[in-house]
Amino acid sequence: MSAIRYFRLVPWVFVACALATGAFRVSQATGQEAQSAAASPATPPDPEQGKLLFAQNCSTCHGADAGGGDGPNLHGVAAVLGVPAVQSIIRRGIEGTAMPGSTTLSERETANIAAYIGKLDSATNAGQATGDPHKGEALYNSSGCSACHMIAGQGGSIGPDLSRIGAARGPTNLKARLQDPGANLPQVGDGPFGSRWTQYLMYRAVEKDGRAVEGVRVGEDSFTIVLKDLGGKLHGFRKPDLRSLEKEPGKSFMPRFRETLSAPQLDDLVAYLMILKSAQ
Ligand code: HEC
Ligand code: HEC
Repeated sequence: MSAIRYFRLVPWVFVACALATGAFRVSQATGQEAQSAAASPATPPDPEQGKLLFAQNCSTCHGADAGGGDGPNLHGVAAVLGVPAVQSIIRRGIEGTAMPGSTTLSERETANIAAYIGKLDSATNAGQATGDPHKGEALYNSSGCSACHMIAGQGGSIGPDLSRIGAARGPTNLKARLQDPGANLPQVGDGPFGSRWTQYLMYRAVEKDGRAVEGVRVGEDSFTIVLKDLGGKLHGFRKPDLRSLEKEPGKSFMPRFRETLSAPQLDDLVAYLMILKSAQ
């Protein structure tokens, strides 16, 4: 259900158009870079300006305090990866994930944002999970999560694979998603033409013969949509062949855990999810 899988479903004509617009934007950005490099060849990066740029370009996914949201917590990241690597991530994005590369930020703006992230150490970390990951793991095993989710190859596939969920999202977002599945769904920025795309949105499709299918959207373009039903089965439709196609915002196959787990239990579960950071 990742963005990359969605991309495979997009007809080539869309991919070609997206590439064409991407190429156009790159040449624009290069123009800006040339300008700003000429204006200020040796000025050190300015983390204060980086903070403002972060608020405009990154906070929707990484949170206002960079403590994470749809995207991961960034405190301490520069200490691990190094500022140059952060700069390169900002420019190129991370392939196969929801982290987009920027085609509009200049070299200098990128350096300023990386300098701001470089100042966010883990000591003042707003995005750290507060619960106990060991208790969280036990709760994961006793709450039926693995019927729908896979971790390191074990479990079901109705819901998304959670093997790397701690690298992909912040704790606040994960807690909200457990309390109220279907709400707070992540917005991905790499649909055709850079459009925003709500992940895991549910739809109800009714065919002309009255047969109805309810499922999570795993792919869509102008003429087709692919839904995954509660059994994990994929259903592809041509939109003109449908009697109706309705979004079901707020709905999810995942049960709500707001009533069944206490707030401290949810924190423990989130702490466990946050340590899941590698695909192996
Ligand atoms: C559309 C949402 C979105 C936007 C906008 C976004 N990011 Fe990300 N970012 C992500 C996601 C999701 C990941 C995690 C990708 C993964 O590894 O699964 C990520 C990962 C990263 C990482 C790597 C973290 C690590 O621990 O390896 C850095 C650094 C980063 N983003 C910086 C930024 C900066 C700076 C901006 C603004 C210029 C930005 N991001 C804008 C979603 C976003
Ligand atoms: C009946 C199937 C089902 C069960 C049981 C279930 N989930 Fe989910 N889960 C889903 C589906 C479908 C989604 C995607 C839609 C959504 O977020 O509401 C999801 C989403 C998630 C996400 C967000 C994934 C992302 O990429 O952002 C997390 C985290 C999660 N589930 C954890 C859990 C945990 C922990 C449990 C057990 C306490 C659990 N789920 C039980 C089906 C399930």
